[in-house]
Parts: sequence; C-alpha cells; structure tokens
Amino acid sequence: MRLVTHLRHVDLAVPDLAVERDFYAGIWGLTEVATDSGLSFLAAEDSPEQYVLRLRAATDKRVDLIAFGAATPADVDTLALQLARDGVRMISEPGAVATPGGGYGFRFFDNEGRTVEISADVAPRTHRRIEEGESVPVRLSHVVVNSADPEGTVAFYERHLAFALSDRLTHPGMGTMMWFLRCNDRHHSFAVARGPHPSLHHASFELRGIDEYMRGTGRLLRSGTEKVWGPGRHKAGNNTFSYFLDPLGNTVEYTTELERVDENTWHPGLHDFSDPAVSDQWGTANAMDEFVAKKSFNDPDKGLFLAPPV
Ligand SMILES: [Fe+2]
Repeated sequence: MRLVTHLRHVDLAVPDLAVERDFYAGIWGLTEVATDSGLSFLAAEDSPEQYVLRLRAATDKRVDLIAFGAATPADVDTLALQLARDGVRMISEPGAVATPGGGYGFRFFDNEGRTVEISADVAPRTHRRIEEGESVPVRLSHVVVNSADPEGTVAFYERHLAFALSDRLTHPGMGTMMWFLRCNDRHHSFAVARGPHPSLHHASFELRGIDEYMRGTGRLLRSGTEKVWGPGRHKAGNNTFSYFLDPLGNTVEYTTELERVDENTWHPGLHDFSDPAVSDQWGTANAMDEFVAKKSFNDPDKGLFLAPPV
C-alpha cells in the first residue's frame, strides 16, 4: 500500500545564495515567499505547496532533501514505523515540521544517503490560477537523481515508499539509463538516472500549457542561460522538455502535458532512446549525445548520509 501521495519540494544547498535566488525568483519565474537566515523559500504561483524549492546558503553544494507528502499524520507514523522496522536509517522521528506551513513529518536517508522528508498536514498556500500566456511555473513536476547504483535506488523507492515503475529508457550499448517512478497517476514524480555519482540530475517545473512552456523556453534562451537540451517532446511520459543550467550548474527543466496513467492497467515500457523519435517526438531538440548527457551529471553531492542542518 502506497502512503506517499505526491512530490512536495526539492531543497538545495548553494554556495552562492544571492545568485541562485536572483535566477529562480527572477527569470525562472518562482515567487520568494519566505526568507530566514540563509534560507529562501520559493513557491510556484499555481501550487498549494508552501514552496517547491528551498535554497540554503552553504559552503558545500548539495541536495538538502527531497520532500513528499502523505495524506494524514497517521500515515506519516505508519511509514516511519515501517521504514525503521525495515532497517532504513532514520534522521528524525515524526514530529512538528519547522518550515513554512508547519505540518507533521520525519526524515530518513535513502540507500545512497539522500535525505528524504515525508510530511502531512502542511497548511496549503493560497495560490492562484496561472493565466493564458503567463509563462511561470505552475508546480514542481518531478525530481530526477543521478545514482551510482540505480538498480538499488529504484528498488529502495519501490520497496520502502511503494513507488511504481512507469517506464525505462534503454540504450543498446549502455543498458537501462533511466527509471521513471510514480507515486500517483502522474507518469513520474521521481526518476533515477544512471550516473557516475549520486547528485541532482534535474528538477522539472511544469508550465501551464504548450504556449506558456514555449514562451518560458524562449525567455530563457534569449537571456543567454545555458540550454542543455530541448525544446522537444519525450516519448516516455509524453511531456515536453527544455533543460537549462542554473548559475551553479544544476539542471532545471520546463515541461508541460506530462502523461497521466491508469495505475490499474499500466504496464512499464522499455524505450530505446537511441531512436531519436523516443528522445524527442518533435525533432526540434538538439541531439542527445554523451556531451549533452554529461551536463546533467552535476557535481558529486556533498550531503550524502549527512542530514541538512534545517
Ligand atoms: Fe524531466
């Protein structure tokens, strides 16, 4: 039984908070809703989540944590008990969450030492409908991590959080390179990429629709922000993609129209991404090659098995 309901936010530690804030609250289109000493909380205007991105000033660049929601405090307790019983390394017991919106939650390390937070009862943020032509993120769509042991990482999330495999990307010479995992009917809220080390592969933000996604993509292109890959439309998930590098080299994505699946009937597919029509159904994106792929390896995460201070 799956007790996780959805992806909430991704929290990054950054050596240059000011420049990252300027990027995300500026051209990327998030809204800074709260600050604390060395912390910036950024919301997506159409999302009930208090924030979808937290930035923390730190010497070491790392992913602080990835946060998921549960339906009730009782579900939070059940999950915490199950994880502890199954030998998962816990960081905190269920209790009051101290970040904006409060709530009830706990933290643990996944198999490679990423910090994961599960919470319920977080107060919803007053949000608003994004208007036609408004090219700012509606919500956080998904988070993808690089893993040096992707099979083990996928198995961890399947076993302990009951995430389900939606699709895989394979290559005739390299084997399976990407696993798309869901925690609800969205094709993926989380994915695992085979990489040289654990790190953030990319964080993806959903735009209102194709027009808004293209307007946002154009704004980033015109600004001179380094584009990694896109614009295009993936086969797996059927979502559009434009990947850029933030000022510290984290890959971030604008997407839209990610597929919803019928969880009762869905069978995971195997997509050979050496076929250009699998990588990009439209044929508008630059070719994916090893040089493009390497841009999203990111720096080795400095926060493995190290709980963030907040
Ligand atoms: Fe993505």
